[in-house]
Amino acid sequence: MARHIDILEHPQTAIEVASATLAEGLPIGLPTETVYGLAADATNPAAITRIYETKGRPRFNPLICHMSDLAMAERYAIFDPISRKLAEAFWPGPLTLVLPLRPESGIHPLATAGLDTVGIRVPQGFAGELIRAFGKPLAAPSANTSGKISATSADHVDDDLGERITLILDAGASVVGVESTIVKVEDGELRLLRPGGLAAREIERVAGKAVKRKRGAAPAIEAPGMLASHYAPGAAVRLDATDVSPDEALIRFGTPEIAGIGNAVAVLDLSPSGDLSEAAANLFDFMKRADATGAVTIAFSHIPDEGLGEAINDRLRRAAAPRA
Ligand code: TXA
Ligand code: MG
Repeated sequence: MARHIDILEHPQTAIEVASATLAEGLPIGLPTETVYGLAADATNPAAITRIYETKGRPRFNPLICHMSDLAMAERYAIFDPISRKLAEAFWPGPLTLVLPLRPESGIHPLATAGLDTVGIRVPQGFAGELIRAFGKPLAAPSANTSGKISATSADHVDDDLGERITLILDAGASVVGVESTIVKVEDGELRLLRPGGLAAREIERVAGKAVKRKRGAAPAIEAPGMLASHYAPGAAVRLDATDVSPDEALIRFGTPEIAGIGNAVAVLDLSPSGDLSEAAANLFDFMKRADATGAVTIAFSHIPDEGLGEAINDRLRRAAAPRA
């Protein structure tokens, strides 16, 4: 069993125990505004190896390196003008920038899977404070077994990885609820590698240019983590449902009419008022809850593809994809 420390009740203890655990090369469960991370010292190869082992994650899939602020990030990566503008506008926050890695910066090649680029993010709140105190970047993928649903609470982390890690910091439910948006500037073009907790249109507003989306399968090297089947619950997933059968759990957005709703195994409302931020915050917890009912299939009603809906639908399509 992992030790839990509530960061609101015991912030100082959390910083001290977490720093000591990280210094030993052990990964910890770390709350961020997007999802909980499985965080370890990005400069320590043994620590990074433990992240991959704990998650069962393929090692060709690089990790996001978390920094305390832009000044720290500049020590590890080279910023072009557009990326710097985005960092100034959105950090700390749910934005990851893929940037050229500074040679000899200290980030271990295991964290970047040997690429000459690095994904960097400055998280909001406690995670940033911990990184400042620890003084080194933290590599942190989402704190879930590879291919499974990301964790948005300390209990989710414990249920999935509690036997394999020693410490989980608890900050309650993650406010954003989906992972960061990942972008990369290439030849002056802004490319969306993963839709996430920062809506693409916000990025376009600040950058003053359109983000280019990849349609279809991305080349493995571009976003190695974007495997088709991902975010998979035990149950099958069905999208754009307008009806529900008695062996299905229903997850609704807004209050659409759904035929057969009275016989569903369970009905969960992501956001009765149709608020996409609220829906994103509830998404992974509701998927886990629907899964726990033992329903054969989780049926989702339609969710619009605008704003944060793009990230929600991306995760749902992956959850619904054929499983390997
Ligand atoms: O919100 C988040 O981003 C969370 C929290 C913990 O910060 N982290 C997260 O990490 O979602 P993870 O490992 O589950 O997803 C990282 C994604 C993967 O798809 C990976 O392939 C991509 O980022 N990535 C990391 N470094 C990259 C790079 N240099 N080039 C392209 N993609 C990269
Ligand atoms: Mg993940």
